[in-house]
This record gives sequence, C-alpha cells and structure tokens, in this order.
Amino acid sequence: MIIQPRVRGFICLTSHPEGTAQHVKDQVEYVKSKGKITDGPKKVLVIGASTGFGLASRISAAFGSDAATIGVFFEKPAAAGKPGTAGWYNSAAFEKEAQAAGLYAKSINGDAFSDEIKKQTIDLIKKDLGTVDLVVYSLASPRRTHPKTGVAHGSVLKPIGQSFTNKTVDFHTGVISDISIQPVENEEDITNTVAVMGGEDWKFWIEDLKAAGVLAEGIKTVAYSYIGPELTYPIYRNGTIGQAKDDLEGTVPALNELLKDLGGVSYVSVNKALVTQSSSAIPVVPLYISLLYKVMKEKGIHEGTIEQMQRLFAERLYNGGNVQLDEKGRIRVDDLEMRPDVQAEVAKLWEQATTENLEEISDIKGYRKDFFNLFGFNLDSIDYEADTNEVVNVPSIT
Ligand code: NAI
Ligand code: NA
Repeated sequence: MIIQPRVRGFICLTSHPEGTAQHVKDQVEYVKSKGKITDGPKKVLVIGASTGFGLASRISAAFGSDAATIGVFFEKPAAAGKPGTAGWYNSAAFEKEAQAAGLYAKSINGDAFSDEIKKQTIDLIKKDLGTVDLVVYSLASPRRTHPKTGVAHGSVLKPIGQSFTNKTVDFHTGVISDISIQPVENEEDITNTVAVMGGEDWKFWIEDLKAAGVLAEGIKTVAYSYIGPELTYPIYRNGTIGQAKDDLEGTVPALNELLKDLGGVSYVSVNKALVTQSSSAIPVVPLYISLLYKVMKEKGIHEGTIEQMQRLFAERLYNGGNVQLDEKGRIRVDDLEMRPDVQAEVAKLWEQATTENLEEISDIKGYRKDFFNLFGFNLDSIDYEADTNEVVNVPSIT
C-alpha cells in the first residue's frame, strides 16, 4: 500500500515501514561511528524498547558494545489494510540489523506492567542468556492495570494547587495560543499518575528478575527522568507527572538495597527534552523544545535521542570509572540543555514568540521533522509515493 502520514492532533496514525527502518539504520550508523564502548553491557533487557529513549538505549547497547538484547514493548503489527505502529516497524528493523551484525536480539510484545509478561521475559532470559547485566526501564504510558489489585490507573498531565496559563504551539500549523490548564481536583489524579509513571513497576521488575536469579553480578539498572526549565515546572516537574518522577527517583535507594548482595546498582538518568511520541502530548513542551533546538543547534550542542543515549552509555554508565551524580544522586545528561546560557536565551525567545515570528526564531521545522521521522516520514531517501509492503514481521515474535 501507499502510506502517507495521517495526523490527528499530536498523534500520527500511520507509520512507514521503510522509513522507520531507515531511521533505525541511521541510529545504528551513528552509534557505530562513535566506536566501541569499553566495558559496555553484554546482556541487556530493555523495557520500553521500541521507540524513543528505550529504542536508542537498545541500539547503543547492541552496536556500542555488541550486547545481546531482549526488548519488551507494546506495539501493533499491520492489520486489515492498516499499517503497523512505528514501534513495531522499528523493532523489526532493529532485529534485522542485529542479526546482520551477528548479535542476539529477541523481543516480547505485550503489557510490561503485567505479571505474565514479566514471567515470559524471565523465561526467555533463562533459556537464552542465563542472566542480564543491564536492565533499562523506559516505559511511557497513559495507563497501567495494576498487576496485584487489577485497578486500571490513568495518568493525567495537570498542575497541582493552581491553574497554569502559558503559551503553547500547535506544531502542525505553527499557531501559538494561550492555554489554561486546570489543576487536579483530587488526590486521585496524583496517585493514579504516580501508579502509572512512578517507580513501583520498575521495582516489581527488579524484584521478579532478582527472585528468578537472572540478574548478573554487578547488575546495573537505569530509568529515565526529566526536570526542564522553570517555565514548564507547573505542568511538568511540579505537576502530576513530576510527582511520578519524584517517586521514580525515590525508588533508587530501595533498588540499591535489593541489588547490594549482587554488587549491583540502580540509577535514574535525567535526559534532555526531545521529540518523542510521549513528549509531543504535553502542552507547552513542544514550543519549549522548538526554541531549545534553535538555541542548541546554533551553539553546536544539539543532541537527539540516539546522541543522548550513546553519551549516557559511553560517558556515564560505562566510562571506566565513577559514575558522576548530582546532589540528588541522579545521572545528568540534560547538562547541555540546562546550561545557564542556553536557558537564558530560551527564556528570552519564549517572551518574544508569536505565531508571526515562530518560523524565524524557533526551530519548529526541526520539531516537525523529528516528529514525522518518528513515524518513518520526511526521510530524504524514501519514496512516499511508492507502494510498500506494510506486512513486516518482527522475526523473533512470529
Ligand atoms: P516513548 O513513547 O517513545 O516510548 C515508550 C515505550 O514504552 C515504547 O517502547 C512503548 O512500546 C512502551 N510501552 C508503553 N506502554 C507499555 C506497556 N504497557 N507495556 C510494554 N511496553 C509499553 O517514550 P520516551 O519519550 O522515550 O519515554 C521513555 C522515558 O523517558 C519515560 O520515562 C519518559 O518520561 C522519559 N523521558 C522523556 C523525555 C522526552 O523529552 N521525551 C525527557 C526525559 C525523560
Ligand atoms: Na522508550
């Protein structure tokens, strides 16, 4: 079929199999171009491995240090004349690249929050790898069915205490408007968001993996967080999602205790704001990202998802020495984003930004390109008028 982008709001309903494959290949080539990561991970489990930071982590491990990888994700293959999801095609492409390089790669498609998928993953590790030495936790989801209570929790993106009004952009049209977001009305909005995006499920994973004896001596585990600028605090770090990130970061001591006898350690890495399926859904953030991109590109310090994760692996997690942490015990690869000169320029542009000057003062073009690239569109090498086969298998799943 001929596959073109079909956009509804901040979601693209279609994905291009060859485009996503090219996007994966470009990330693989980037990691290879940076050379081998000395003493990098060898047997890696990535939870949330099909898009965004999780996919970039999987690529960094596989092509940076020849790691065997198991990826867990929740994606859909093509069905009834509808293309599959980007994460499905990404995973198919990743496995193909890994196989061609002689690297073990298998994937599990299902609800990572469930006990059943945890068990399936453990069985696969036992059968094929014995143990894993790195567990990357990179889930982003709007809902979670709790495996012990059966309660379906939905996360919300709301401020806490008072309403928040600021600029936001429709990144398709470039129209800037004011948005007012009402604060949470009850404690439940907060507890639900924490239940979905907090640290409990990460802890459940590590507990189950440990109990099954599939964690190697010296195991490392890492999950991802965000802080960002003051202007997004009300909707991000001080909002419901921020409470979940506090909870995620607060899980580190408990995991370290759990991993102590294995000589293992857990980390949260604070990453840069980037265009992913998850971040495009947060009000205010896309305008911030398009101004940030402009400033960081001008300074020559811009990074995408793959650059961030390659650097996390090569210069933080596996740097041959101590892992540098901030005063709260977190890894920071948002260091360039948070540089005072960068933030000062973004804040200035934020004040100036209007619909009329947006194209000029921001990198809204780069935002759009990154957004469409997530779904395999807007890549120079692909002919989008041509027929393409939407039925693509993830080799290890079928
Ligand atoms: P993403 O939406 O690109 O990736 C989410 C992954 O989770 C996908 O692989 C998806 O299949 C998987 N997933 C979702 N629900 C699942 C389920 N029930 N079972 C199995 N897999 C499931 O998201 P992104 O942006 O890469 O986020 C990953 C982490 O990074 C999140 O914790 C996010 O808060 C954090 N982060 C994101 C930043 C950004 O700007 N995008 C910045 C800093 C941190
Ligand atoms: Na991810």
